[in-house]
Amino acid sequence: MTAIRSVVLGCGSYLPERILTNAELASKVDTSDEWIVQRTGIKQRHIAADGEFTSHLAIKAAQAALANAGVDAQSIDLIVLATSTPDNTFPATAVAVQNALGITHGAAFDLQAVCSGFIFGLTTADSLLRTGAGKRALVIGAETFSRILDWTDRGTCVLFGDGAGAVVLEAQTQPGEASDRGVLTTHLRSDGRHKEKLFVDGGPSSTQTVGYLRMEGREVFKHAVGMITDVIVDAFKATGASAETIDWFVPHQANKRIIDASAHKLHIAPQKVVLTVDLHGNTSAASIPLALSVAVNDGRIKKGDLVLLEAMGGGFTWGSALVRW
Ligand code: ACO
Repeated sequence: MTAIRSVVLGCGSYLPERILTNAELASKVDTSDEWIVQRTGIKQRHIAADGEFTSHLAIKAAQAALANAGVDAQSIDLIVLATSTPDNTFPATAVAVQNALGITHGAAFDLQAVCSGFIFGLTTADSLLRTGAGKRALVIGAETFSRILDWTDRGTCVLFGDGAGAVVLEAQTQPGEASDRGVLTTHLRSDGRHKEKLFVDGGPSSTQTVGYLRMEGREVFKHAVGMITDVIVDAFKATGASAETIDWFVPHQANKRIIDASAHKLHIAPQKVVLTVDLHGNTSAASIPLALSVAVNDGRIKKGDLVLLEAMGGGFTWGSALVRW
């Protein structure tokens, strides 16, 4: 029995040029490199330039992914862009990417699941490809969180950065077995009881302003590891995979302590964990495709590898995906 799978043809990413180090942040708010590194593992983050928007980062990441996949933009008939920091309230930032790539067919839309956005976007694109709604998709995570940070709040402004990452997916008929390439399983969750633990205090319908990110850091931390590990166990149960059989663990890069605790609880060997939070900070929906790009480019992730992805973020939302590269 065959199955249609969404196979990853390539990935790419883009980071703004400007790097903001912990030392520089410490000259603006009451914090220190030592505090930030010890609590989060973050050493620096990239910050978009004036006039550089989420769409600009997304376009560069998409172009890099297309080049890495070796396919022409005209073959893309679906663009799903995960972001919480769109250029405008509407239209979707995805249509700016579509336009910049010269694509006038198919569909492009944004998806909002905060830090879980890439997993939600991957799941959505995979579902559409498997039902025949498209043949090739770009799934992009792109953010300019620097624009929604309260730069006087040391509890949040040290955590986030800007960036974008993208993957190209292609619907391919595979044997329908665990050894298939492509997205093998995805699991999405949300629980709105926690919506005030991590949110932005503005919006078009409520305040007619953009607002700033607000977070109860300890509350987020308290729930993160349990939610992440639950949804990974779901992925393992659905596929028969395990901590031993996966080749790489590419988590959402929020905080090294959350990543370490999740990997430890699941008995995932530290050498299988791809970490970029030290250099990128938390880039929300962009963090997973940024980390994928790093590990593909440095030769760690290779064709045929079993790659476990997970994310958790505002809402709360959380999810996992298991992909054979
Ligand atoms: N520098 C120095 N001191 C600070 C800073 C800072 N940047 N931020 C807070 N503090 C102080 C606080 O004021 C407090 O001081 P007090 O004891 O005098 O009141 C002290 O440090 C402890 O504050 P807590 O908030 O309790 O610190 P905690 O150990 O919980 O660490 C952190 C804070 C890093 C935010 C942690 O709670 C965390 O990692 N939470 C998860 C949040 C996260 O990753 N969010 C990302 C989005 S969600 C996601 O992507 C999963």
